[in-house]
Amino acid sequence: MRRIGDLASWRAYCDEQRRLGRTVGLVPTMGALHEGHTSLFRAARERGDVVVATLFVNPRQFHDDHDLAAYPRTPDIDRAIAEENGVDCLIEPALPTMWPDYPAATLTTVSVAGIGESFEGIGRPGHFDGVTSVVAKLFALTGPCRAYFGEKDFQQLAVVRQMARDLSFDVSFVACPILRDADGLALSSRNAQLSDDGRRRALVVSRALYNAQEHPDTASGHRRSFARSLADGDVVVAYADVVDPMTLRPLGDDDEGVGRALLAVVVDGVRLIDNGDVDVKRGEH
Ligand code: PAJ
Repeated sequence: MRRIGDLASWRAYCDEQRRLGRTVGLVPTMGALHEGHTSLFRAARERGDVVVATLFVNPRQFHDDHDLAAYPRTPDIDRAIAEENGVDCLIEPALPTMWPDYPAATLTTVSVAGIGESFEGIGRPGHFDGVTSVVAKLFALTGPCRAYFGEKDFQQLAVVRQMARDLSFDVSFVACPILRDADGLALSSRNAQLSDDGRRRALVVSRALYNAQEHPDTASGHRRSFARSLADGDVVVAYADVVDPMTLRPLGDDDEGVGRALLAVVVDGVRLIDNGDVDVKRGEH
């Protein structure tokens, strides 16, 4: 596995792969790799792409210094996991390489209005601006590629897609399904920050989701059922809603079809998100 830390070699590597007729499969990560991440590496490998993974804990997408400091960092293990899971090139830029002027206020920010302003955008002000700013840079450095993102971060995927469309990046997206532990908890680097008890309490989220998936209902029926299921758990609910999967607009009782449930809770001070398709029935009038 090739390892790169500087921007010139990053560009040169990707240019060379394209010159050889290969498709670059970009998998952006913040490290603390788990099977959710490796499922993206494998998806890229299965399509025959040259797998280029980035490992960079982007400070601009954390609105809270404590959250940034607490974010797990396991670079040695990450290198071994990347190598074992078919990554051809691991890009590990240092902070000053990516953001030489950080934390100066003169940095360029890429911001997506609308879909970036709801849900996670409310609970984590500035978060998506940090994400779109770094992902725009990853796309600019990588060049034309297929980019692999997990549906675990459903809103992130929608926001980044919109950004790429608006800024005409030559990037096609591959959305990969959510990987879960056997008990249903969606895999996340943040799960490592949970106590045993917190982890047990966190299961209320995937249970609420499964319950909604088994019982088609109106949009407001789903909202009521989430409120009930989550109230039973000892967690702080940030939001629980049913939205249009493309626009992330909350669905109403005149809507029907496949909606996307978006859930976020805070457990032990750790923010956890989950989501999934639910059947939405039209309300009776
Ligand atoms: P990170 O949280 O490390 O996630 C990297 C990628 O792995 C994202 O596309 C995320 O959706 C995917 N992923 C995480 N857990 C998953 C799971 N359980 N199942 C499937 N996919 C999963 O998301 C980020 O990093 C950053 O915001 C980044 C895009 C790298 C920009 O800094």
